[in-house]
Amino acid sequence: MATKAKSSAEASGGFTGKIGYVMAAAASAVGLGNIWRFPYLCAKYGGGIFLLVYLILVATFGYTLLVSETMIGRMSKKSPIGAYKDLTARRSHSTGSKVFAGVGGWVNALVPFLICPYYCVIGGWITKYFIEYCRNSVKVMANDDYFGGFIGKTAQPEIYFIVFLVLTLAIILLGVQKGVERFSKMMMPALIVLAIVVSIYSCTRPGASVGLKYLFVPNFHEFSMMTVASALGQLFYSLSIAMGIMITYGSYTDDSMDVDQSVGQIEIFDTLIAILAGLMIIPAIFAFSGGDPKVLQSGPSLMFVTLPKVFNSMGLGMAAGIVFFLLVLFAALTSAISLAETCVATLQDELHWSRLKSTLIFAIYAAVIGTCCVFGYSIWSDFTIGGFQILDFLDFITNSIMMPFGAFFTCILVFHFVTVKKMDEEIELASKFKRKKIYNFNVNYLCPIGLAIIFASSVLNAFGIISM
Ligand code: PHE
Repeated sequence: MATKAKSSAEASGGFTGKIGYVMAAAASAVGLGNIWRFPYLCAKYGGGIFLLVYLILVATFGYTLLVSETMIGRMSKKSPIGAYKDLTARRSHSTGSKVFAGVGGWVNALVPFLICPYYCVIGGWITKYFIEYCRNSVKVMANDDYFGGFIGKTAQPEIYFIVFLVLTLAIILLGVQKGVERFSKMMMPALIVLAIVVSIYSCTRPGASVGLKYLFVPNFHEFSMMTVASALGQLFYSLSIAMGIMITYGSYTDDSMDVDQSVGQIEIFDTLIAILAGLMIIPAIFAFSGGDPKVLQSGPSLMFVTLPKVFNSMGLGMAAGIVFFLLVLFAALTSAISLAETCVATLQDELHWSRLKSTLIFAIYAAVIGTCCVFGYSIWSDFTIGGFQILDFLDFITNSIMMPFGAFFTCILVFHFVTVKKMDEEIELASKFKRKKIYNFNVNYLCPIGLAIIFASSVLNAFGIISM
């Protein structure tokens, strides 16, 4: 595993201090999770109450897990599987510890394998929208049935998915991700500016104020265990935690990095972008569809149905659509690169395959799983798993089951094997650890207990034993 951390660090040029880490972590964090997933979950689970729960979770669970994962990487200088083995072995060589290390490392390492294929399917949808705006289909796309018609087809979504997947893999195979990342860093401010313009436009439409209220004023009647479970899943997804990625990035950093401060910057940046996406989309549902509950509940299709309406009613809708989807395409690409890179590196390290072989086998695997997701909305739409379509099912098991489980292991690794005291000392090597008390409380009590409850309720809910 040392080779992985080293080879990947070399491939990415390593991190020169804090800026490199913050930039890479932000490039991985900001993506479809913020722009596509956050608004639809927020609309679905009651608006303001979801936002409130999400913010509380970012400040507690998000903060604690980001610090922990980064430090696990930094202390072991390894990516997840190796890091788990190494840090448990420092404390104990018992069989139980070995099993713990194996399960913890692999749960973290497997999540990207399940997310990456369906992430590329959605990347394909973005590509399609970008191309359609270039062809000036602004009016047609604003039609309510346009998106459903598109994903209900078989060939088109499949082609766009393959295009996005090939692009992602070509970038990592050619080793040019640094170039792409640099480019997308330049695009990020443009995305923010455009998102602000579109949000202002959305929020000032007649009827949008009800949407603003829906987004910002919590309605406690809408609260349920499902709100917490989905907000937590979203938090993991959006911050790229509980899937080994931040462990790998942490392994490239050195002791001089102020983890506390860097993590704070990533959290704030990622959350602001998610809120901005919410501001573009949620008030628009009220302005253009009168807050129709069916639209609010529409899930993955929300952004693809609502934003075209906004662009259609704006002057310069075609230009806005082209620029917006191009920028989102870049944000999605950098996240997909970080997911695919993690998978390829795991194959290289664990199976000792060459980089080319790992990439090609991963490509075939991702193409098969992604194709199942595409067909799940068209020719296989009658096939559901536990009531979920294939893509939604993958999203559910990773976010609601595997990630809380993996994060729970991370907490145990910290408080039992590494020990919180040692963790504090390591963090303090760089600077004063301002949120030490909060971190210690969270990692010892709040996070493991909370994660166990949420994990158990998601499983019971999935089996229909309880209803959340
Ligand atoms: N955090 C990314 C997003 O919000 C998704 C992602 C998850 C990227 C895991 C890399 C790893 O879109």
